[in-house]
Amino acid sequence: MKLVVGLSGGSGIIYGVRFLEVLRELGVESHLIFTAAAKKTLVLETDYTVSQVESLATRVYGVGDIAAPPSSGSFKTDGMVVIPCSMKTLAGIASGYSDNLLLRAADVTLKERRPLILVLRETPLNIIHIQNMLRAAQAGAVIAPAMPAFYHRPKTIEDLLNHQVGKVLDLLGVEHNLFERWKGAKQ
Ligand SMILES: Cc1cc2nc3c(=O)[nH]c(=O)nc-3n(C[C@H](O)[C@H](O)[C@H](O)COP(=O)(O)O)c2cc1C
Repeated sequence: MKLVVGLSGGSGIIYGVRFLEVLRELGVESHLIFTAAAKKTLVLETDYTVSQVESLATRVYGVGDIAAPPSSGSFKTDGMVVIPCSMKTLAGIASGYSDNLLLRAADVTLKERRPLILVLRETPLNIIHIQNMLRAAQAGAVIAPAMPAFYHRPKTIEDLLNHQVGKVLDLLGVEHNLFERWKGAKQ
């Protein structure tokens, strides 16, 4: 399996780091596009360096490298995940304004009818955010916000990250054991 992974400047860059770690553990090829704002949130929100995160990916492309392979539909992939997805990147995707490689790769993913999963992060939402989500969903994107669940009784931040990452893998049909599935209420 081969995925394009976009990291953009929403809070929760740690979701993207965990996603890349899991893809590596599962042997899934990851083609990483890291925005400038995502690099900033990485430094502000975590103790990881940009090069540590980049080393988790199979290949890394500059966000300004508009001629890189993911900018073409002829570069075959099994889909793309933007994790986290900022409201600005959502706006670019929803309007088809592909002025960087991440936005172009998302546009290509939609036009080729491949899965595009957007792990959005913002609260509260204004009407522009909500309208952009609707437009992206109508174009075929899956809106999968970073929205922690508690039915699996998380004890650590890693439990919360694994749940979100596992939900994204479920959408892509990738098997994993990142969280315990709901089996109904215990007696
Ligand atoms: C620490 C930090 C946290 C941020 N959190 C969010 C957020 O949760 N959601 C969001 O849409 N933008 C957030 N932003 C703003 C985006 O980073 C900003 O809009 C940026 O231009 C997004 O660019 P990109 O989509 O190209 O990465 C945050 C910025 C910083 C510095």
